[in-house]
Amino acid sequence: LTIVGAPTKADGPVCGVGEPGKFSRLNFPEGFTWGTATAAFQVEGAVNEGCRGPSMWDTFTQKYPHRCEGHNASIAVDFYHRYKEDIQLMKDLNSDGFRLSIAWPRIFPHGRMSKGISKQGVQFYHDLIDELLKNNITPLVTVFHWDTPQDLEDEYGGFLSGRIVQDFTEYANYTFHEYGHKVKNWITFNEPWVFSRAGYDVGKKAPGRCSSYIPNYGQNCEDGRSGYEAYQVSHNLLLSHAYAVEAFRKCKQCAGGKIGIAHSPAWFEPADLEHVGGSIERVLDFILGWHLAPTTYGDYPQSMKDRVGHRLPKFTEAEKKLLKDSTDYVGMNYYTSQFAKNSIPDPKSPSWTTDSLVDWDTKSVDGYKIGSKPAGGKLDVYSKGLRYLLKYIKDNYGDPEIIITENGYGEDLKEYHNDIEIGTNDHNRKYYIQRHLLSLHQAICDDKVNVTGYFVWSLMDNFEWQDGYKARFGLYFIDFEKKFDPSPKSFGQMVF
Ligand code: NOJ
Repeated sequence: LTIVGAPTKADGPVCGVGEPGKFSRLNFPEGFTWGTATAAFQVEGAVNEGCRGPSMWDTFTQKYPHRCEGHNASIAVDFYHRYKEDIQLMKDLNSDGFRLSIAWPRIFPHGRMSKGISKQGVQFYHDLIDELLKNNITPLVTVFHWDTPQDLEDEYGGFLSGRIVQDFTEYANYTFHEYGHKVKNWITFNEPWVFSRAGYDVGKKAPGRCSSYIPNYGQNCEDGRSGYEAYQVSHNLLLSHAYAVEAFRKCKQCAGGKIGIAHSPAWFEPADLEHVGGSIERVLDFILGWHLAPTTYGDYPQSMKDRVGHRLPKFTEAEKKLLKDSTDYVGMNYYTSQFAKNSIPDPKSPSWTTDSLVDWDTKSVDGYKIGSKPAGGKLDVYSKGLRYLLKYIKDNYGDPEIIITENGYGEDLKEYHNDIEIGTNDHNRKYYIQRHLLSLHQAICDDKVNVTGYFVWSLMDNFEWQDGYKARFGLYFIDFEKKFDPSPKSFGQMVF
C-alpha cells in the first residue's frame, strides 16, 4: 500500500511519530543507533599487561605530570579487566552501539609488525568485541585515538614524519583483517584537528610540542616555533588515512563495512555584524574543512591555501585521487560553539587560523550558561550549533551520512574530587543532553540531514587527558578511590 504524499527515504530520513506527549527514540528514524563512547587510553589501564608497549601518552603523563593534574592512566577505569561489567551497564542503558578504540601499542608493542605482535593484546579486543556482540551491542571501532607507540616517536618523531604512513597503514590493515568479519563500523582517526593543534601547536596534549608563531601562546610550549608542525602532522595523518582506507576497501572480510573520521568542529557565530562576511566560512574551513575537504574533494580548502601559504604541504595528483571520497560517512564530535572575528592575514598569527575566536563568555547565549571547559575556558551550551553544523555539512560536503560520534557534558570541577553526591548530581548533564537531542531531532526530521547514530561521551568517568580525573564526563560516576585503593593518590602510580 502506498500512501500518497507520505515521506519516503528518497526525501531524506523518515522520522518516527513516537508516543503522544513523549519524546523518545521512537521519534527518530528506524534503525538509528544509540550508544556511548570511550577511548583505549582513557579507560583501559593495565598499561604493563599483555606485553603492551608504551604510547606517547604514557610518556607525556610521566614527563609532564603537572600538565595532567599529576594523574596518569596506568589503571584508569580498569576497563581491561572489568569490560564485562561495563558492558552490563551499557545494556542497562538500552544501548545499541558502543564506540571503543584499539590501542596501537597493545597490538604492536613497538609500533610495527616486524618488531612483534602481542597475542594477548590481539585477544583482548577479540574478547571485548565478542562480549559486545553477545549482548547485541554493535561495536564502532576507532583505530587511532591519539596513542602513538612511543618507539615510533623515538625513532622518527611519530606523525611529524612521512614514515608514519607506512607504519599506520600496516597497523590499520592488521586490525581490519583481524576484526573485520565482526566489526562493520570503523573510524581511522579521532579528532585530527585536536590531535594536531593541541599536540603540536599549543603543546597541551601529547607529545606537547609548540610550533605556533606566537611566543607563549600556549603556556606549555617548550619546543621550536616554526609554525608548520600541525600542518605537517595533519598531512601525514591524512595520507595515513587514505592508504588505510585503500587497504580497508580491499580487505575481503571487511565487505559491507563503513569507515570514516571523527571530526571535532565547533559551530561559530559572528562576534559582531562587521564580522559576518567570511569569518564563519573561513574558521569552519580551518577547524573542519582542513580534514574533511581532502577526504571529500581531494584537497585542502582554498582559504587555507591562501592563508597558510608555503607552510601547508601539497598533495600529489595521485594522493588527491586516493583521498577523494575516502570516507563512507562523516563522524562528528560536537561539544560547543564560539564567536568568530574577521582578521587580517598576518604571518605572525597562530598557525592554525587567522580568525580570532572569542568565547561565548562575552555574550549570553540561549539565556543559559553552565559549567566550563575542564581546561578552564567556558563551555557554553549552544545546542543549536549542532543543528547548524549538521546542515552546513549536508549543504557543503555532498549530503553525506553522518554519525554523532561524541556529544556530552563534563562537569566544571575546579579540583579533583571523589564526592559521590557532587559527582552524581546530573542536572546539567541531563539538560545538556536533552537540548542536544532536540536539536539533533530538528536536524534530522526538519532539515533532513542523514544522521544515523548518536554516541554520548562517555559511558563512565575516565582519564580526561590533560585534566586527569578532574573532569567527569561519565553517565556513570566512578568512585576511583573505592574501586582501586582507599588512598587518593594510588590511582596515579606510573609503573614503567
Ligand atoms: C574529545 C575526545 O575525543 C575525547 O577523548 C575527550 O575525552 C572528549 N572529547 C571530552 O573532552
